[in-house]
Amino acid sequence: MRSLIDIKDLSVKELDELCKTACDIIKHPKKYAHACEGKKLATLFFEPSTRTRLSFTAAMMELGGNVLGFSEATSSSSAKGESVSDTCKVVSNFADIIAIRHPKDGAGLVAALAANVPVINAGDGMHAHPTQTLADLLTIYREKGGFNNLTIGMCGDLKYGRTVHSLTLAMSRYKNIKLVLISPKELKMPDYVINDIIKKNHMKYKEVTSLEDNIKDLDILYMTRIQRERFFDQKEYERLKNSYVLTVDKLKKAKKSLRILHPLPRVNEISVKVDDDPRAAYFRQTLNGKYIRMALILKLLALAKKNPKKEPLYDKKKVRYDLKCKNPRCISGIEQEHEHKFVPTNKKGEFKCIYCEQKH
Ligand code: CP
Repeated sequence: MRSLIDIKDLSVKELDELCKTACDIIKHPKKYAHACEGKKLATLFFEPSTRTRLSFTAAMMELGGNVLGFSEATSSSSAKGESVSDTCKVVSNFADIIAIRHPKDGAGLVAALAANVPVINAGDGMHAHPTQTLADLLTIYREKGGFNNLTIGMCGDLKYGRTVHSLTLAMSRYKNIKLVLISPKELKMPDYVINDIIKKNHMKYKEVTSLEDNIKDLDILYMTRIQRERFFDQKEYERLKNSYVLTVDKLKKAKKSLRILHPLPRVNEISVKVDDDPRAAYFRQTLNGKYIRMALILKLLALAKKNPKKEPLYDKKKVRYDLKCKNPRCISGIEQEHEHKFVPTNKKGEFKCIYCEQKH
């Protein structure tokens, strides 16, 4: 049995297989209409969501399965202080697979450690949102015909945006990818992404502040929202929130073959007038999210049927208990029952928190 906590849990071969299954579902929906009959998906959403929760729901329904769950923390017993672990142990008795969204970094791993069914991380704080990356990849695959030889602009909040971090990681596995990282200096891509993903994988990249000056070079423009909910300082949010607005005028300089992606929701970073441009792929991306989640549910349920024993989620033999995670958003510092646990990274003398992956 396997869970999906981070996009790196899937090999390139598995990503390709998921995209191919999703394309087959699009072509032959009837073939899959009863594939999950008698199965239940639990959607445990401790944080707001439109696309992710409803596309998981639609995905399971279109596979012939059923869905149960909650859409806000206040309507679950977490409002009475129940932990993520206990919630997932309980829900394992009612469902065959769980999709969880939670505001704390590392909640996805906590859920997978506790549950007796496969867990899909549907977004854990600033840490990871792997099914969004799957939706992004399927969109690139369908719009561009493959993943190699692309110049990808990532624009907006590159600091707090978990989607751009995961997409960078996913694209680092393909050939001849150039990244143009467009952000205000306050929201630039974190050093750990630059050093541990981009430089380590010898990806070409540049960091710039102007969208207008760079749009002409791009095959993909991945716009992101400046996320109010990730800022500790609201004045800083107000100052930065309108840093980038993609307009019809700015698009005049872009290639005809450009595709514009956005994980959505958008606030005002893409003018609504851009929606009618055929290069705007963000609503198609949302639909792709449903198909790739269908493919993922099928895969994880098939693996659980083949081998109900849980695959290890970290190397227990290498754990250190003497280090403390300094990430204030990490679940290990909030839910008392999770001991601080660190495992070695590939870098000599460096360790990372098993939950949020913050380095020490
Ligand atoms: N992209 C995304 O995760 O959207 P929701 O927050 O609406 O699920």
